[in-house]
Parts: sequence; structure tokens; C-alpha cells
Amino acid sequence: MTPFTINNLPVEAEPGETVLQVARRYGIEIPTLCYHEAVTAYASCRLCIVAATEGGRTRIVTSCTYPAREGLEVHTDTEAVRALRRVLLELLLAEAPASEQLREYAAGLGVTTTRFPSEDPENKCILCGLCERVCSEHAHVGSISFAHRGPRRKMTTPFDEPPDQCKGCTACAYVCPTGAIDVRIGAGGMELEPWCARVEMVACAECGMRFAPAPEMEELAEKGKVEPAVMALCPICRRKAHARVLLTGKA
Ligand code: SF4
Ligand code: FES
Repeated sequence: MTPFTINNLPVEAEPGETVLQVARRYGIEIPTLCYHEAVTAYASCRLCIVAATEGGRTRIVTSCTYPAREGLEVHTDTEAVRALRRVLLELLLAEAPASEQLREYAAGLGVTTTRFPSEDPENKCILCGLCERVCSEHAHVGSISFAHRGPRRKMTTPFDEPPDQCKGCTACAYVCPTGAIDVRIGAGGMELEPWCARVEMVACAECGMRFAPAPEMEELAEKGKVEPAVMALCPICRRKAHARVLLTGKA
């Protein structure tokens, strides 16, 4: 265990833990946008900055990537840290002015306006890279990645084409901190925007409702992770079938 302090509180880090991981374990709040415990940290939003003092020298570091070290003194909420976070939030608001989720998050941290101009009033993406990491590290698909540099940088699919490999797991939409990814389910199946992904859905054998992405279900079935009954019926009809068996003894 590695002893150090956060906001003057003595804490201990497990081997390999970052300052953010230790802070969360001790219930100390540090705002984050591009961090998710399930994927590799990428440190793009910089919102998790803290003041870290070591050997008499204080630096502003990103806590999601900064390793906990013995004797480190961390302060998560100094005036300097708060002022920098406010500027970072203003920059993010200017980058993704169409994101209501981001506006709400920033307002929660006391930032409701931005002094910076916006390039694209429709944009919701802050280029945090979470969707890419979840797609490659968890779904093992790699349907999305960064393209271009500088002001043209964007998150997109290979050649800006609909991605063939997308399984419709929707993990990218789940982790996106700004609500930039839309999942729509209609008669034609599932659509994920802005990836232009179209995924077939499994229809319930009883009521016909489309309830799960077909490629994902097929993969789970191949791996023996879902029963054929789960593949055939939507959750509502499955529950009804279960209740029928309980009450009548008949399937
Ligand atoms: S779409 Fe969402 S998750 Fe992906 S880079 Fe943009 S903000 Fe991050
Ligand atoms: S959460 Fe650490 S840089 Fe984004």
C-alpha cells in the first residue's frame, strides 16, 4: 500500500492505482468527462485536474492518469484548480454547444456561459475518445476512431462509411458523456447516429416487438451466453411465459 494525502486526509493506494481511483475509493469527488473505469484512461478533457505537491514542487496534473506515489500531497479543490476547471468547461461548451448533457454538467460546476466562440453550433462531441475506447477494448469491434488533426479532428467510422462490423451493442452511446450518439429503434431495425450504422433487430416470436440487436445476440448465442428462449422472446413475453408456467404448470 502507498500512503499519501488528498485534501490533507491520509489515504492509501493499491499497487498501480491513480490519484483519481484512490480519491473515488475514499468518496472524494473529482469531476471527470473522458474517464470511465472500464477503459484505458486517455486524459483528453483535463477536467480531473488536481494540484499535486512532491519534493516541495506543486504541479497541476490530470488525476485520471497520475500515479499515486508515497508522500504525494494532492489538493482537489484549490482556487487555482477551480479557476482552470472553469476555463476548461468554457472551452468544452464552445466546442460542443449543442450538448444539453454537457450544459447541465457544466452548470452543476457553476459554469453556465462561455467566452469562447463556437465553430459548429450543432456539435455535441467533445472528442473525449470514450466511444472509440469502449468499441475497441470492450466490443472488440473498432468501428470508430479519430480522423484528421487540428480543427478538422473528429470521431468517425472508417472512410466515413456505415461500419459493417457494428454489432449494435450501443456501449458507445452509453458511455458518451455529452449525449452525442443517438440510438433509434424502428421498423427497419436499429440506427446509430452519427455513425450511420444500421443493425438488424431480433423480433419477438410472440408479439413481434424488435427487442435486441441480431449480431450481438448471435455472437452471445455462439459463445453459449444466451439460452435459445432468450433469443426467441422479448423480456415482456418471456416474463409472461414464465408466469404462465408458474400458474398452470404448462409452457
Ligand atoms: S461521440 Fe461522445 S464518447 Fe465519442 S468522442 Fe464524442 S463526446 Fe466522446
Ligand atoms: S477525466 Fe481525466 S482528463 Fe478527462
